[in-house]
Parts: sequence; C-alpha cells; structure tokens
Amino acid sequence: MAQERLQHNLFVKSLDWLFVVLFVYGVYKQIERKEQLNDLGLLKSEIFFALIFLIFILFRLIYMKKVYKTALPSNAPKIQLIAAKFVRISMFFFLSGIAASGLGIGFLFWLGYKNGLFIETIIWLHELLFSPVFWLISIHILAAIYHRSQNDFVWSSMVPFLKENDK
Ligand code: HEM
Repeated sequence: MAQERLQHNLFVKSLDWLFVVLFVYGVYKQIERKEQLNDLGLLKSEIFFALIFLIFILFRLIYMKKVYKTALPSNAPKIQLIAAKFVRISMFFFLSGIAASGLGIGFLFWLGYKNGLFIETIIWLHELLFSPVFWLISIHILAAIYHRSQNDFVWSSMVPFLKENDK
C-alpha cells in the first residue's frame, strides 16, 4: 500500500496556483496585433505585467532551488525523475523566454522601433516560444493524472482536491 509522502507547504502550493492564474491571465489578455501597442496605457500595462511575470518565475526558480524536494516516490523509475526534471526546466526556459521577448517587443516599441526586421524577429520568437508551452502543460497535467491513478501521493502534494486521503 502507498505511504503518505511529502506534501509541499502552503507557500509552494500557492506559488504554483498563483502562477497558473497569472499565466491564464497573460494568455487571455494577449496582444492580437502589434498596432494595439500604440496605446501607451496598454503598452505600459503589458510591460508591467511581463516584468511581474518574469520576477515571479525567477523568484520561484531561486526559492525552489533552495527548498525543493521532489514529491516523486524515492523508488520512482529513473526515467520518471528525468522526465519530471526535463518538463520543469523546459517550462522555466519557455515561460521566461515568452516574458523576456515580450519585454523586448515592448521596449523596442516604446523607443520607436515599431517596424523592421529586429522587432518582427522578436515577435516571431515570442510566438514561437508559445506553442511548446501548451505541450509541456499537457504533459504536466497527464503526468499528474497518472500519479493520481497510482495513488502515490504526488497529486496531493500539489492539488487541493480529489486527494488520495479523500477516498
Ligand atoms: C508574460 C507576458 C506575456 C504573455 C504570457 C504573452 C502571451 C502572448 C500570446 C499567447 C501571444 C499569441 C501567440 C500566438 O499567436 O502564437 C502573444 C503575441 C504577442 N504579444 Fe505577447 N505576451 C506577453 C508579454 C508581451 C509584452 C510585454 C508585449 C509587448 C509590450 C507583447 C506583445 C505581443 C505581440 C506584438 C504579439 C504578436 C501579435 C501579432 O500577432 O501581431 N507580449 N503574446
């Protein structure tokens, strides 16, 4: 029978769920056409949001590096540990890339470089970085559901509902 295992503390759980809210908001209010950025209020709010987003990711990275212990059972297959690490690192890379390229677009636009190869390349990069995030999120959710089916307490280390203990 599975033993009860590591539960992430409330702060770590809140960080991740707050991040989900931030990300969904960021996607919801995405820019449809770069001409929208001619609205200075919108441009400033986009830059502000991207800065908060980036600071949040960096803070989470540093904090997790200091305190993080994986909730994966110690007897988990090595491939699972490697896959989890791969998804974590890739998420960090792509999400911070989206925010950093967004900031790049914003500052170029602010400085008046509204057209040309440079800004178009950064917009291309900004959009390119976005699709892998959907794949990574899907893998992340599927892995969480798999762990729930295994009753190995990985799910309940982060998710506040349908916990193994609720059975
Ligand atoms: C973390 C913050 C941000 C998130 C999550 C985000 C998200 C997105 C998403 C989902 C798209 C659509 C991608 C696609 O269609 O494949 C997009 C496009 C775009 N974003 Fe961002 N973005 C962020 C920050 C910014 C910032 C700060 C700026 C500039 C001030 C910006 C400017 C743009 C532009 C110009 C486009 C392309 C619009 C077009 O198709 O012409 N983004 N962004």
